[in-house]
Amino acid sequence: MKMHNHTVSSVTIPPLAAGHLRSDFDLTSAELRSLLELAIDVKAHPAHYGNVLRGAIVSLLFEKPSLRTRITFEVAAKQLGGDSIVQTGPIGGREPVKDVARNLARWTRMIAARTFAQQTVEELAQWSGLPTINALSDLFHPCQALADMLTLREHWGGWAGRTLAYVGDGNNVAHSLMLDAARLGMHFRCITPAGYEPAAEIVEAARGFAAATGARIEVTSEIEQGLMQAEAVYTDVWASMGQEHEAIERARLFAPYQVNEALMAMAAPGALFMHCLPAHREEETTDAVMESRVSVVFDQAENRLHAQKALMVMLAAQLH
Ligand code: CP
Ligand code: NVA
Repeated sequence: MKMHNHTVSSVTIPPLAAGHLRSDFDLTSAELRSLLELAIDVKAHPAHYGNVLRGAIVSLLFEKPSLRTRITFEVAAKQLGGDSIVQTGPIGGREPVKDVARNLARWTRMIAARTFAQQTVEELAQWSGLPTINALSDLFHPCQALADMLTLREHWGGWAGRTLAYVGDGNNVAHSLMLDAARLGMHFRCITPAGYEPAAEIVEAARGFAAATGARIEVTSEIEQGLMQAEAVYTDVWASMGQEHEAIERARLFAPYQVNEALMAMAAPGALFMHCLPAHREEETTDAVMESRVSVVFDQAENRLHAQKALMVMLAAQLH
């Protein structure tokens, strides 16, 4: 694999050292910042990037449903001068993942995959040799976190010293947000019911990143304390895709953690409301909060496109 800078318009784009985005760990702190800077340029000057994927087809594989991720990757591939094909259903059901990967490598130039097991993304990357993107797994949702960091930067001008509170399940979205916040110097509070905390090794890794930036990464079940002076409040569904059978039990346990107007009032005045979507109104949040002035959920959704385009531009550096 050739690894050298490439230039698009007047912007020099370094390739990503890992060559993939299998998880948030594939981006160094410097690469994360460069990617977000590039996303701002891609958003401002989309036409400059119209040939980056010329002639290239991107494989989009979905084991789970999607609106935002699927459409934004399809639009992104086309706007970058390439195209995409979509396959839905289990990856590795009819044949081993390593065989799927080596087939895709013969026809297409990049993979984005939404999976249950993180291992499936890792195997696709390993066996295809193609730049491979995690489009959500049970453990991570790195593309979502990139869009969210871009959204916060647009609203705040930066991240350092700000506080983002995440309320709800310590899930894939919480993991990716925590890892990015820590590297960007943003304090992160994860407020979850007991037993639904984020994975201990990911919290530990986030604290490792935070040691270099001064960010504080906290996990608590205390709602009021966790929300104190938070400048953004983020929530996600209580039962993620694949956990539907736990929905009733979770709804009971998570009820006090619903991000409603009373909870928003515990945060800093004017705190932003964030949600990766899809949102279940009157469960993890309310219609009033979703539709309120501080809700930036559709900015987040829009930024999925720009952040993923920037990611694909950086990964394309290794295709040439
Ligand atoms: N936020 C997000 O990933 O949305 P989809 O599940 O619709 O792709
Ligand atoms: N945590 C949710 C995110 C959906 C975008 C899930 O995995 O279903």
